[in-house]
Amino acid sequence: MEIKKVGVLGCGLMGSGIAQVCASAGYTTYVREIDPKLIDKGFAGIEKSLEKFVEKGKITAQQKTEIRSKLIGTTSLDSLKDCDLIIEVVVEDIKIKNEMFSYLDKICPEHTIFASNTSSLTIAEMAAATSRPDKVVGLHFFNPVPLMKLVEVVRSIRTSKETFDKTFAFGKSLGKEPIATKDNSGFVVNLLLVPYLIGAIRAVENGVASIEDIDKGMMLGCGYPMGPLTLLDFVGIDTTYKIAEIMFAEYKTTEYACPPLLKKMHLAGLHGRKSGKGFYDYTDPKNPVPMDLGI
Ligand code: CAA
Repeated sequence: MEIKKVGVLGCGLMGSGIAQVCASAGYTTYVREIDPKLIDKGFAGIEKSLEKFVEKGKITAQQKTEIRSKLIGTTSLDSLKDCDLIIEVVVEDIKIKNEMFSYLDKICPEHTIFASNTSSLTIAEMAAATSRPDKVVGLHFFNPVPLMKLVEVVRSIRTSKETFDKTFAFGKSLGKEPIATKDNSGFVVNLLLVPYLIGAIRAVENGVASIEDIDKGMMLGCGYPMGPLTLLDFVGIDTTYKIAEIMFAEYKTTEYACPPLLKKMHLAGLHGRKSGKGFYDYTDPKNPVPMDLGI
């Protein structure tokens, strides 16, 4: 069965980006959120991103209108019942993900593929919540989704080759470069990225250098587009905290152990760009200022 209709569960930073790239590739895309205000917020972000592409001549104003017409916001899970592929982009909580997949499993046709954008939970666990474990797969995107070329396609011990191949081809159809990975927590990118980010937080804790100089060091010394602390604010301190907790629970090695500073920032609501403060203060978003964290 050809993929024509796509469902996206969640319209936050990642969900809206994923919905945008699906609609841009011509798929009719249903985006489900719990509150209409969250749909409006996510769609406003899509509008801004598409406008940027129009300004840069990457798409025409007509194409932008066509892309927008492919996006349908909804608060009902039932609206996704005719989708050929559903991508969940909800919080990293296995219980919530499993409840959604379990519900959709009962109302979607047999051919519907369930994909998860999880970055650290295992796909096999989600597959077990459905009666179609062969059709459950990982599809992990990177922030900002409209710009980042990579998508990780994850085959669990229960995913069929047919589902994997179809999802891999779908990733390509979005204009992304898919890579194939096993269903280990963190897949390829977070397996390597999370210890690096944790190392940068430990460097702040230990007073190795200032926030700005740690970032400058990695940008100018290694050619990274963003320093690790800017990247942490970009990904979200709360998100990184959750990922580190899940990966530590899985591997039980110190490289994934959550540094006390990460936990404190998470608890203090210093979640990075999304909350206005993290390692930097974004009161003036164009001019972030390093935070005084009392270290
Ligand atoms: N849509 C459209 N345009 C966008 C955009 C979006 N969503 N986001 C940024 N842009 C535009 C900017 O507005 C800017 O436009 P102008 O040139 O007109 O000003 C342009 O893209 C370039 O952006 P910047 O000037 O901010 O700077 P940049 O050249 O550094 O590019 C970047 C931005 C692509 C984000 C780059 O900094 C980068 O690659 N950063 C690293 C991101 C990264 O590592 N992401 C992965 C995080 S890990 C993850 O997501 C997975 C996980 O599980 C945790």
